[in-house]
Amino acid sequence: MKKLLITSAMLLSFSQPLFAGSAFTDGEDAVEYRKASFQLIRHNMMDLGDMVRGKVPYDAARVQKRATALAAVTTLPWEAFTVPGADKASGDAKAEIWANLQDFNGRADQLQKDALQLQSAATAADQTAVKAAFAAFAKNCKACHDKYKAD
Ligand code: HEC
Repeated sequence: MKKLLITSAMLLSFSQPLFAGSAFTDGEDAVEYRKASFQLIRHNMMDLGDMVRGKVPYDAARVQKRATALAAVTTLPWEAFTVPGADKASGDAKAEIWANLQDFNGRADQLQKDALQLQSAATAADQTAVKAAFAAFAKNCKACHDKYKAD
C-alpha cells in the first residue's frame, strides 16, 4: 500500500509541469490568467472612475468595495509574466517586458502601492483623497501600456 502511494505521487509529479506551483499549465494558460486579471482591474476601476467623475452618484460603500477589490486584483497579473513559456505565448505583451523586467516590475509595484493608497482613502471615506488617489492610480495604466502592450 505504501509503495503504491509513493508510485502515484511520483507519477503525478512527473506528468504535470510545475509552473508556479500548479496555477498554470503552460504559457498560454498564463496569458489567459493575466488577461482575466487585467479585466478584473478594468471593471473595478471603471465603476470607481465613474463615481469619482460624477457620471454616476458617489456611493462611499461601493467606492470602498471597488478600491478593496483593486488592492487585491492589482497583485495578480504579474507572476503570469514570469512562468516558463509566458514570454513566448500569444497575447499583447511586447518582448520589451522581458528585456526590461526590472522596469516592468517596478511599474507593477507602483500600481499596487497606488491601489493601497486608494483603498485607505476609500476606507477613510475621504472623497477628496479618493479623487487624488484615483488620478495617481489611473496614470499607471497608460504609462505601462504605451511601453509594454501592443496597440
Ligand atoms: C506594469 C505594466 C502594466 C500596468 C501598470 C497595467 N497594465 Fe494593463 N496590460 C499590461 C500588459 C503587458 C498587457 C497585455 C497582456 C497580455 O496580452 O498578455 C495588459 C493588458 C491589459 C488589458 C487587456 C486584457 C485582455 O483581455 O486582453 C486591460 C483591460 C488592461 N491591461 C487594463 C489595465 C488597467 C485598467 C490598468 C491600470 C489600472 C493596467 N492595465 C495597468 C501591462 C500593464
